[in-house]
This record gives sequence, C-alpha cells and structure tokens, in this order.
Amino acid sequence: DEVLRFIQGMPKAEYHVHLEGTLEAEMKFRLAERNGVHLPYANAAQLRESYKYHDLPSFLAIYYDGMKVLQKEQDFHDLAYAYLAKAASQNVLYAEMFFDPQEHVKLGVAIEDVIGGITRAREDAEAKLGIRSQLILCIVRDLPADTAMAVLDAALPMKQYLVGLGLDSDEKDNPPIKFAAHFAKAKAAGLRTTAHCDANQENTLDHLRQVIVEMELDRVDHGVNVVQSPELMAEARKRNIPFTVCPSFSGQVRGASGPIDAVRAMLDNGLKISINSDDPAYMASEYITDALARTQVRSALSMEELVRIERNAFDTAWLPLSERAGFQ
Ligand code: ADE
Ligand code: ZN
Repeated sequence: DEVLRFIQGMPKAEYHVHLEGTLEAEMKFRLAERNGVHLPYANAAQLRESYKYHDLPSFLAIYYDGMKVLQKEQDFHDLAYAYLAKAASQNVLYAEMFFDPQEHVKLGVAIEDVIGGITRAREDAEAKLGIRSQLILCIVRDLPADTAMAVLDAALPMKQYLVGLGLDSDEKDNPPIKFAAHFAKAKAAGLRTTAHCDANQENTLDHLRQVIVEMELDRVDHGVNVVQSPELMAEARKRNIPFTVCPSFSGQVRGASGPIDAVRAMLDNGLKISINSDDPAYMASEYITDALARTQVRSALSMEELVRIERNAFDTAWLPLSERAGFQ
C-alpha cells in the first residue's frame, strides 16, 4: 500500500542489528557445508521451522547455536555483506551493527578474522552499494566478565574498525554496572557506548538508571520501560539519549502489545527513537521496512512521525558531522 511504499522509499538508518542475528537459514546451510558442520535438518525450511522460542534465554540458545557455522574470515565477510546488501535494498543508507566476539573466540576463531571479515564486507558494500556502516563490539553479559575484558583488550589494537562498545545477551543478574570498568576503558579509548536494557527484566528501571545516569552511556538499546519513569525520561531528554527500539523482538518474545505501544508514549514524551530489526533471521526475516511498517500500524504513526524518526536516527549517528554529507 501507499504507506508501505513510503516507508520503503524513505532513506533509513539502522542502529540495532546483531550481525549473527542476520544469519538466514539458507546461508547457515551453505556455510555448514563449506565448513563441514553437520546440521540436523534436511533443508533451510526445516531449520527455520526449528526456530521456536518463548523468552530471551530460549531465543539466545538458538542464536548462539547458529554461530558454529561461522569459522573463517570469509564467513564473517559473507554474513556482513549479505546483511548490508539486504539493508541497502531497503534504502538503508547507514547502519551501526553489533557483533559478539566472545562467542566466536570461545569457538576458537581468531578475533582478527572476525573483525577483518566484517570490515572487508563494510568496505565492499560501501564501494559497490553505497551503504555506509560502522561496527559495535558487544559484551556478552552472561559470559564471565573477565572474558569480556580479554576480548576488549584483544580488539582495542583494531579500534579504528570499531565505533562503540555495547552490552547484550541475558540481562538477568548481569546489570550494566557489572561492566563499569569495561565501559570506562572503551570510553578512554575513544569508543562510544550503549547497552541493552530489556523490557521484561525485574530491575529494568534500575538498569536504565545505571546506564543513563551512573555510567553515562551514549545510547540505550530497547529501553522502552523508560516510559514508566518521568524522571528517567527527563534525564534521557536532558542528555539527548537515543533509544533503539525493536518491534519484532517485542512482538515475538514479549507478547504482542506492550513494547510496541511504548513507541507512541516515547514519541509523545519527546524521546529520540529509532526503529530496528534486531535479529531478523530468527524473527520471521523482518528487516527494517517491515519493522517500521508494523510499528506504523500498531502505534498509528503519521508520515510526519515516520520522517521525524528517521531524521532523528540520522542525527544520532556516531559519525562526525563532516562525514554525513550523503544523508543530511
Ligand atoms: N543478542 C542478540 N540479540 C539479542 C537481543 N535481542 N537481546 C539481547 N541479547 C541479544
Ligand atoms: Zn538486540
């Protein structure tokens, strides 16, 4: 329809996408074959059928299992290039992408191959497709904190290929403040900072306060529970904190209504949000256009509001002003 065409045509920016969460079943099969990994499914359709989860831990188990097919530099290149091509086809001009190096290092992959392959894909995609992108190293918060520090230390010599440090995976008993030293080190190295604050945690407002007020990170991923706290919303406005909202994750994992309706409240309270795809390969292949379309319907967004969301999204890019000429 007309709104969908409008959304498809809008220049867009994406800020919350896990590269390993863009590993579509077909590519997982191809890489498994290439690397001699056995998958206990006859074909990609059957594999996709097996992606059934009901909460964050059961989702994460499937997501981490998929990483075993990613072994070589070329695999990371192919994964990142496929995402960037998909995004470019939906008129995404700029993307900041997460990856989880602790998991790959745990599986015996050299961090140089992970960052090298992704970086080569970013360069190829910019040259061939015109899409600009940057890379955010994510701490896997439910692995031991010292393995996160080891990976950060191993990555910092390659920091010119990174723009930020993030925090993902299972939030239960892993509050942001547990990683204060990691974020302080990243900031000192000139990286930007962000953290997942999931909506269905017990201590969600406390975690938001840690991220926004105590640790003064630059951004919040998800974070839709902020609408429960006028004080935290005021802090977020004062500090110009963007929130990267992911409607597909909310829809499948958290029940259909809550978080998506939070979009309306966040906009009405003057917060800066972006709409993002999160882990599209595990979430009905819903990339950014579909994510925006679903949010538009659920939260009754006007075209002006859609434009405001994307303008804000470009505004909050972790890029110097001098490098934004192409999209502002
Ligand atoms: N890792 C990959 N996707 C994630 C998500 N949506 N939440 C937390 N950790 C993740
Ligand atoms: Zn996420």
